[in-house]
Amino acid sequence: MNNLRDAEVAGKKVLMRVDFNVPRDKDGNISDDAKMTAALPTIEYILHNGGKLILISHLGRPKGKVNEKYSLKKVASHLEDLISAVVKMTGDLTSAETKKMVDALEPGEVLVLENIRFYPGEEKNDDDFAKQLASLGDIYVNDAFGTAHRAHASTAGVAKYLPAYAGFLMEKEVEMLNEVIESPESPRMAIMGGAKIADKIGLIDNFLDKLDTIIIGGGMANTFLKAMNKNIGKSICADELLQEALRLLKKAQQKGVKFLLPVDVVVASEISADAKSSVVGVDNVSDEVMILDIGPKTAHDFVEQISKAKTIVWNGPLGVYEYDQFAEGTNSIARAVAACSAVSVIGGGESAAAVHKLGLEEGITHISTGGGATLEFLEGKKLPGVAACEN
Ligand code: 3PG
Repeated sequence: MNNLRDAEVAGKKVLMRVDFNVPRDKDGNISDDAKMTAALPTIEYILHNGGKLILISHLGRPKGKVNEKYSLKKVASHLEDLISAVVKMTGDLTSAETKKMVDALEPGEVLVLENIRFYPGEEKNDDDFAKQLASLGDIYVNDAFGTAHRAHASTAGVAKYLPAYAGFLMEKEVEMLNEVIESPESPRMAIMGGAKIADKIGLIDNFLDKLDTIIIGGGMANTFLKAMNKNIGKSICADELLQEALRLLKKAQQKGVKFLLPVDVVVASEISADAKSSVVGVDNVSDEVMILDIGPKTAHDFVEQISKAKTIVWNGPLGVYEYDQFAEGTNSIARAVAACSAVSVIGGGESAAAVHKLGLEEGITHISTGGGATLEFLEGKKLPGVAACEN
């Protein structure tokens, strides 16, 4: 990857892609700013060296349409609190007004472009859109490791038209994750949670060829439990993947990979702060409830396996950890991963946020800012955003 230290940034308009797709609460306020603070070394380097910084990010999935709910305004104003520089914000990035603001930028100033996913050209990696973006800068820096698995105009296409460099966060992520790939000490374990099973089932398949133990919790465990003919009540489930889940269970058996699923769960009839919850065995889930966390017996079993592991990759929470009564599973896993001596990598905003909430950062080898990006990288795929820094 091209090293930013080799670039001439003084007086240059530096177009930099960051991943400020931060977790937010129901009022749209930032609930964890780790993705932003992780990009500060690159931001500060550029500003201190006299660059005129133009930041590009997405927030959520507005699907190519302007939607105020996904505006980056609060993110831009939080950035101003984090750095000692003026942070301006644009409206429509294709407008003449934006061009004027870019031209008026002074060295050491920052301009944040409005959510890049308001434009359909972004996710299509449209060439004209990429060219239009490139016309705003003199050089391009990609520090958005969390979005590096997407071949979009601002993560990949734009690099065709400008000298491209990797930011320090991008560089560090690639270095740390390569370390895990290259020296994986056994037993090697993946802990997979979260709700996005469709995004992760292929990775589980791949991990079955490489790892010794796979622990599954969170929303994605429900699909496996249902495939095993267990009642999961009103829980989220990817019904279209039941056959695939069965195939993976069989593959794990054939390969001798320990594939651990919950044996007890915390259930409730609604997801709310005052929902009445109870612990039941996975054979005793009733029709009216949802599975919202792993149970204490499951947590105990998982923690025991974690203590034996030498390499751990963890992605996704084990329950709806935002609510205290459904957070214990995720918290106990976080404590166990932090306490064990394994090389540990955590990927995914939510699992990272759980670790930050408990102040356990010290015990983790590397907390990645990537979710899907980290998993695809560990799977051995060449990420388009990483490739973009090599042109
Ligand atoms: C993430 O949060 O994993 C990244 O910001 C990528 O977001 P996406 O899954 O919406 O592309």
